[in-house]
Amino acid sequence: MITVRENIDLKPFNTFGIQARCDRWIDYTETSDIPEITKRYGTYRLLSIGGGSNLLFTRDFHGTIIHSRITGLKITKKGAVHTATIGAGERFDSVIDRCCDDGLWGIENLSGIPGDTGAAAVQNIGAYGVEIKDVIETVDCYDTLTGKFITLTCDDCGYGYRSSIFKNSDHRFIVTAITVRLNEKPSPRLEYAGLNNLSETGIRLTPHRVREEIIRLRDTKLPDPATIGNAGSFFKNPVLSAEEYDLFLKSAGGSGYTDIPHYDTPQGTKIPAAWLIEQSGFKGRITGNAGVWHKQPLVLINATGHATGQDITNLENEIIQSVYKNFGIHLHPEVEHI
Ligand code: EPU
Repeated sequence: MITVRENIDLKPFNTFGIQARCDRWIDYTETSDIPEITKRYGTYRLLSIGGGSNLLFTRDFHGTIIHSRITGLKITKKGAVHTATIGAGERFDSVIDRCCDDGLWGIENLSGIPGDTGAAAVQNIGAYGVEIKDVIETVDCYDTLTGKFITLTCDDCGYGYRSSIFKNSDHRFIVTAITVRLNEKPSPRLEYAGLNNLSETGIRLTPHRVREEIIRLRDTKLPDPATIGNAGSFFKNPVLSAEEYDLFLKSAGGSGYTDIPHYDTPQGTKIPAAWLIEQSGFKGRITGNAGVWHKQPLVLINATGHATGQDITNLENEIIQSVYKNFGIHLHPEVEHI
């Protein structure tokens, strides 16, 4: 079913709570609605969004926003391994809750992340040592360029840290469903600092127990978008090549910084953007309507509830410039600007 509304206020549809308007908003419930919508309205200035938890409206959107309400969770068992096929419009966190209820492991570390399933696959959401790409088998989508429905394997999706072909192809693909791999055999991922003591408590670990701990951890650091507008981490954590890291250490060491937090990844050395932003003096700073969260400076907030996209981008640019001046590192937003 297709429901069309004209001239819509987008404030309730983005977790930043930014006021902006779009010319047309379409909800749809069936995959077959998509070709119908593109036939009626074309593909020019057609934007597919999920829960609006990873975007920033910088101005009114003069085009059509489409929002999947395709639901469904179908779990198929093959030995100890299960696959779950999930409609793009399902709230991903509700899906995690249901899978944890069934005692299935694999996505519990992604608990508490706001947003819809389709967007989770586009964004390659990640937290506490797990990225959704680690469990993705296939992604079903509609290719607006060829007008065909296709199924992509995880490899086809070109996943990287918070990136995918979906993010890099200018909204060509509209995700309709994803299939993830889950396991009934206990396979907790507790390497992340703050989780490793879970295994020492003596309590039998279940996916739900890990989920609860993850949600507790997130709540200590991240603001609830229902109360304070935000889009989670605003910036990506920068990843430096060996050469860049060497240069960075020399210059930061020269400025008196020691014990700089860092993590080795296959792509290079990851420096927490939160640390760079905190050292640049922004932690907890409020500038007009926009601010930097006092418990996690990677998160920008709509401090008064009245911030415009421009207020947030002004603060974003100030942070980027300051971190670059102090550390020679260019921060990149992970939030999509529209
Ligand atoms: N840190 C500071 N000051 C602070 C907070 C953190 O210096 O006030 C430094 C510390 O060194 C800390 C490090 O930053 O060890 C890492 O902080 P944290 O564990 O909170 O994680 P993060 O790197 O800031 C990433 C993801 C989050 C995800 C967490 C947990 C990105 C951009 N963000 O944040 O994802 O929840 O790890 O795995 O990769 C999101 O994408 O929206 C998101 C919230």
